[in-house]
Amino acid sequence: MQPSSIHRNLRRLPMTLLRSQTRSDHLVSAHASVTPSTTACIPCASCVASSSKRASLKVMAGAVIGAGMRNVQAADDGPRAGDWLVGVDDDALKPIALADIKTGAKQLIAFPYEPAAKRARSDSRLNRILLVKPEAPALDAETQARAAAAGGVLGYSAICTHQACDVNSWRPKEQTLLCFCHFSQFHPGESGNVVAGPAPRALPSIALKVDGDKLVIAGAFSAPPGGGG
Ligand code: FES
Repeated sequence: MQPSSIHRNLRRLPMTLLRSQTRSDHLVSAHASVTPSTTACIPCASCVASSSKRASLKVMAGAVIGAGMRNVQAADDGPRAGDWLVGVDDDALKPIALADIKTGAKQLIAFPYEPAAKRARSDSRLNRILLVKPEAPALDAETQARAAAAGGVLGYSAICTHQACDVNSWRPKEQTLLCFCHFSQFHPGESGNVVAGPAPRALPSIALKVDGDKLVIAGAFSAPPGGGG
């Protein structure tokens, strides 16, 4: 299930359950009006259907919440120094080159790629890394040093620190990263700090370097990636 659809389902679920509960309460009330209160209720066809629907919704709720939890667990197979980077939707697993990241343009989202094993570390979405090359005047001193080691490109966790949506939008005028779920904004030129919205902490950064024409990971995340503070 895509993260955006997980989030949509998580937002819709309470209303779905509420509507189901309201309909169920109505059926129970209607049923009670024709059933003596001292007599055990024999489920009618409507009650059985409603109960079965509620059971299905409980299973669905568990599945959605379970999927959400997996999104905030720690990654066991996180990015390592020496990993290359490949686009999250690139089935060809072509290594991302320095030239692929344009100055001031929207971030590119990648998975780490283990060259010896020829595989992307794509089992956990917590491994998603956004690559961006902000315009130089927007960089603070700490970020400038990281950018200098990687041809101006910066790497950050692509997972919002609020509720773990993908940070996959870009505000070119402000040169900020945007999470559309609740509109948190992060400043890539200022160590990934939060500049707007409910996110409680900066996006974890990750050091990069250039090897030939390729971008290569040079360390681990500066802090655990994921939502929830
Ligand atoms: S999940 Fe990103 S702002 Fe809420």
